[in-house]
Amino acid sequence: SFMSEVMGLSVLEKQIREKLHIDNVIIVPGDSDQQDWVKQEMGKACVAYLKNVVQSDFTIAVTGGTTMAAVAEVMKPLEKDGSYLFVPARGGIGEKVENQANTIVSEMARKTNGEYRLLYVPDPLSESTYQTIINEPSINEILQQIKGANIVMHGIGDALKMAERRKTSDKILSELTSQNAVSEAFGYYFDGDGNIVHKVRTVGIQLEDLVNINHVVTIAGGTSKGQAIASYFKQGKTNVLVTDEAAAKQLLREY
Ligand code: G3H
Repeated sequence: SFMSEVMGLSVLEKQIREKLHIDNVIIVPGDSDQQDWVKQEMGKACVAYLKNVVQSDFTIAVTGGTTMAAVAEVMKPLEKDGSYLFVPARGGIGEKVENQANTIVSEMARKTNGEYRLLYVPDPLSESTYQTIINEPSINEILQQIKGANIVMHGIGDALKMAERRKTSDKILSELTSQNAVSEAFGYYFDGDGNIVHKVRTVGIQLEDLVNINHVVTIAGGTSKGQAIASYFKQGKTNVLVTDEAAAKQLLREY
């Protein structure tokens, strides 16, 4: 029945909260590897959560990926007279246009009657270009808005899948393989113990900035991400993890 389904997921939510030491875990039924609509269900859960925490002048930073794109698809006005600012959390990270944070923030802003800023920065950047670019006034202005975000919404990816999708060089791919990279978030790659094994140099939120952000919202699902989610939360902190039943069950098997 519907009730036993809901009860079952609340037991699973408790198990994941305890395993990953996360205060809030929201699990939707299904497997987003198998059914695309499960990503939208995670998106709806995320929008409901946002409605509870958002205040009218908030800045919301968002990463890229197909999961965040699904959140944008189901985004709804959050508060009656809110005027939110949506910003990409980081520079490009080599994604297709539809999965880029720039595209996603513009759609979220449109659906919430909010505003958005774009960040046009290629990646990976060399260290010297990075230092020059962050001092460019137009980039520096949006960088300050990003670092001052009240909410960050981000995805987690499977390390090698993400590296391939981003057309990472063979040299870095073999480094990721030899260092047993398991997960990816914010352009950082982590091994099974949560150690950083590689980082894509780009402008925007760095891992250490997350401690200063009041609300971090993590959205990731699908059986194929169970291990990646476990890896990321060996070091990662979040206020809420929105996931699906399949990822949650896989995660408990992996641990
Ligand atoms: O950083 C993580 C990836 O952006 C997740 O991408 O939602 O398409 O799996 P995805």
